[in-house]
Amino acid sequence: MPDDLPPLAHARAAELRELIRAADHRYYVLDDPTLSDSQYDELYRELKALEAAHPELVVPESPTQRVPGTVAEGFEPFEHPSPMVSLDNVTTAEEFRDWVASGDRYLKSENERTYSVEPKIDGVGLELIYEDGILVTASTRGDGFVGENVTANARTIRSIPHRLHGDDVPAWIAVRGECYCRKDDFFAFNRAAEEAGERTFANPRNFVAGSLRMLDPSIPAKRPIRYFAYALGGVRGASYATQGDLIEALAALGLPTIPEARVLAGADAVVARYGELVDERESLPYEMDGVVLKVDDAALQERMGMRIRSPRWAVAWKFPAQRALTRLNGVDWNVGRTGVVTPRALLEPVFLAGVTVSHATLHNLDELERLGLKIGDEVEIERAGDVIPKVLRALEAPRTGDETPIAVPTQCPTCETALARDEGKVALRCGNFACPAQITGHLAYFASRGALDIRGLGEKQVEQLLREGLVQDAADLFVLEHDQLAGLERWGTKSAQNLLDQIEAAKTRPLDRFLVSLGIKEVGERGAQILARAFGTLEGVAAAEKDDLLDLDEVGEALAESVLGWFAEPRNQAMLARMRAAGVAPTAVEGGAGGTFEGMTIVLTGKLEQLSRSEAKRLAETLGARAASSVSKRTDLVVAGPGAGSKLKKAEELGIEVIDEAEFLRRAGRA
Ligand code: IVH
Repeated sequence: MPDDLPPLAHARAAELRELIRAADHRYYVLDDPTLSDSQYDELYRELKALEAAHPELVVPESPTQRVPGTVAEGFEPFEHPSPMVSLDNVTTAEEFRDWVASGDRYLKSENERTYSVEPKIDGVGLELIYEDGILVTASTRGDGFVGENVTANARTIRSIPHRLHGDDVPAWIAVRGECYCRKDDFFAFNRAAEEAGERTFANPRNFVAGSLRMLDPSIPAKRPIRYFAYALGGVRGASYATQGDLIEALAALGLPTIPEARVLAGADAVVARYGELVDERESLPYEMDGVVLKVDDAALQERMGMRIRSPRWAVAWKFPAQRALTRLNGVDWNVGRTGVVTPRALLEPVFLAGVTVSHATLHNLDELERLGLKIGDEVEIERAGDVIPKVLRALEAPRTGDETPIAVPTQCPTCETALARDEGKVALRCGNFACPAQITGHLAYFASRGALDIRGLGEKQVEQLLREGLVQDAADLFVLEHDQLAGLERWGTKSAQNLLDQIEAAKTRPLDRFLVSLGIKEVGERGAQILARAFGTLEGVAAAEKDDLLDLDEVGEALAESVLGWFAEPRNQAMLARMRAAGVAPTAVEGGAGGTFEGMTIVLTGKLEQLSRSEAKRLAETLGARAASSVSKRTDLVVAGPGAGSKLKKAEELGIEVIDEAEFLRRAGRA
């Protein structure tokens, strides 16, 4: 404590922080407020005033620090202390019982067959790390290994404590859980937004996901977002014998936990509880998309271990898709980035599985014919998880005879080019490569996350650039100039510069991402990786002959034809030439077998779970590494499994990078 600070002020600030923390806990975690709003506000104002008078009293975990008042440039990557895994799914009681049986061989006694049965919250996973009880980082799942550091946004969530409380605060703990928004809060928020003429959100999950990725934390601070803790990413200074104990401990630390979670013995009890949760689904305050079942006993969890992406000791039992009846008011037609024109049902808005549905996909012409739909029909629709709703069937009985047939367009709804139907194919296609809808679709895809990841260039911005005549294809992006952008409506110097910086960075993205961005049919993420590894450079891929392509593992006729066709197209060649002239130079990928570990000396130690030692060694070698048996200064990387001993210690002493098997597999492109 600084000498010149009145001791009373110091004590009072600590007291106010504690009173506010306790009030937040009662209100946001226990749902049982003890203070009135005005009492709460009074405490908060007093603390604010005290901190304003004595800035040295401000500590990071103070409730006044929930909103920092600064805007971030972007999110730092954050490496999770252990991978944030996903779960395998089952969909029926039979599959669930098969999953139970698959655990038999790990059981030592029948009474180990106890499960934690928890709602699967339909929100966004978030990891919270507390050091000595203070929240230090919050991160999204990302690819499971590396997520985004969204601490500033997470601090604004009132049900996330800034400081853990109770007698058993561990020295370090990584808590995993879900950010979500209650259904009633979501509707109230959307209603208010609509009245204020502001943007509304499609569903609570999108709302939460968008909020966590805001650069300005004052935005999520005003949104009704909550948190449930349900799993552990690691802990020091404590241990939990069962999932049930973990949940109790998390609650005792002041974290919100799912009230409907139960620990139950035997598969029958689990099946019964699943049925109850299906029945309660509508009436519970949050959205859930299934039930998560976890083996309760931590020792048994350990024994069962992991598959490559998911634990053997937990599984998600998804809910059946939800259905509703409504009226088909019409059909509109949309042109995608490849020119395929797809019908979309315009529906009488109906509430289904947490959202108001007014559109549904009809896939293609065949599907339309199969369904035999007419405008005015009563239709049954279905929404499963996060997928777009679809039309299942038309009801015959309620027809009055006033229903009208659906008119299939003969011209592109955007550019009026005559539409063609590919021989033997179900797709209706606009063959005009200059069709604005196709260009918009392609450019938005080009800039999307899985492709070149040009932030700030979404569909709206693309449409605007197109309208203004600034771009006609992806190559034009790379010659955009500051003044052209800064002068546009709703743009300014800063946003123009941001986009130009993003575009500059996109010039040297890895080759596989660049190949994805071109939107070549059949070439998805995996196909692009294979091509990039095999040929190394864009020129290499462009020059590949059919046999070169077919020689590759996992490359079939369709992919080979599609790649050859794309690079043979003069329009595409011209576009690539213009990109090259503008400085686009995708980063080459080491040739040969892949080269992820080219030139590295790798040591394997401890027990490996997914691969045998010799398989792991061979894998490392095919990717360019030399596998060594002892750790020395010349070692570049150590892959350590459970039980690793002296080699691991040596590696740590020498400061050599140590990864686990999952990370090894991921780097090797096998996870
Ligand atoms: S446990 C090993 N419990 O479901 C345990 N996950 O595929 C890992 N989720 O994206 C997860 N509710 O964000 C767990 N009660 C719950 C959950 C839950 C929702 C999400 C989680 C993850 C996905 C699992």
